[in-house]
Amino acid sequence: MVTAGGKIAALAWTQAGAIRRSVARGALSLRAHPALSAPQTPVAQPSALFSQRQVRRLSGYAHRMARADDRLLRRLADPRIRGLRTWEYGMLLGYLRHRGLKPERALDVGTGDSAFPRYLVASGAVGRITTLDLPQALEEQAADSAARAAASGVEQLVGSMLDIPAPDASFDLVTCISAIEHLDGQPSPAVTRSHQRFLADTTVALGEMARVLRPGGLLYLTTDAYLPERQTTDGWAKFDSGGVIWSAYRFDDIEPTFVETLATAGLRPVAPPELDRRLLVADPGRSTFRGRYFTTFALLGERADAPRLR
Ligand SMILES: C[S@@+](CC[C@H](N)C(=O)[O-])C[C@H]1O[C@@H](n2cnc3c(N)ncnc32)[C@H](O)[C@@H]1O
Repeated sequence: MVTAGGKIAALAWTQAGAIRRSVARGALSLRAHPALSAPQTPVAQPSALFSQRQVRRLSGYAHRMARADDRLLRRLADPRIRGLRTWEYGMLLGYLRHRGLKPERALDVGTGDSAFPRYLVASGAVGRITTLDLPQALEEQAADSAARAAASGVEQLVGSMLDIPAPDASFDLVTCISAIEHLDGQPSPAVTRSHQRFLADTTVALGEMARVLRPGGLLYLTTDAYLPERQTTDGWAKFDSGGVIWSAYRFDDIEPTFVETLATAGLRPVAPPELDRRLLVADPGRSTFRGRYFTTFALLGERADAPRLR
């Protein structure tokens, strides 16, 4: 286990760009005032495009998480994804803080090897948490991950988000963080699913997430989108995909595939979504590690009492 000082120093050392500078500033103040950490900002508008400015505001959450868990430190400080997890995790923590909410039963869909579900329980942000991932993901996770999860009271489910193995209305919070875009089968050079099939599977998965939420429950989802008319390459691509961009939605997919599907499934955005493409065109700080005109976006929806039919 790395010490708290060592963790923060590692954060400062490994991060690049804006997050590196902000965490480094935080590290200095933490070293000088060990009792103080950067403030944990409440988030009133959680349905938004990625923003480096917001990453800086959310760095207090990164500090807390990094101090609590060495795996989270590595994820937050990963220089390849430049502040992305600080934003994704921080936006949720900031919203729960803003509303003073503590969901009792949570489900994290597409967890992979993430330690965030464990942190949600350990920090008291949620009561209990269950994770869901494909069988191969559980086989690939670090040898001690299952033991760590079990020791922290995290229940691991095996299955697909296309058919969530849980009863209707069984969770107060469902999270799905940087996972739904992998419904296109990537990263694998062998899989070539059509965009139409990808969108159709996405609507099925969203319906499943809505189904397992109790009325009044929250769905927090993050995923990637890009402007196809401005961007044709992907800084994250691991193989030559012949000009095709995988595991990202076209910006114009957001409204029909996400916003409308969630509304149909009975989820209303908790605040008017700030998903204006002009922000992505005008502000390079909205772009991600994948390149200019890529963004991650977050959506937080609350399930109404009864699903609304089209
Ligand atoms: C980028 S990783 C997860 C990131 C993680 N949520 C975090 O916070 O760091 C994407 C995960 O989605 C999972 N995934 C892909 N397709 C899935 C499906 N149909 N059902 C459940 N999980 C899936 C993958 O196995 C992988 O573990």
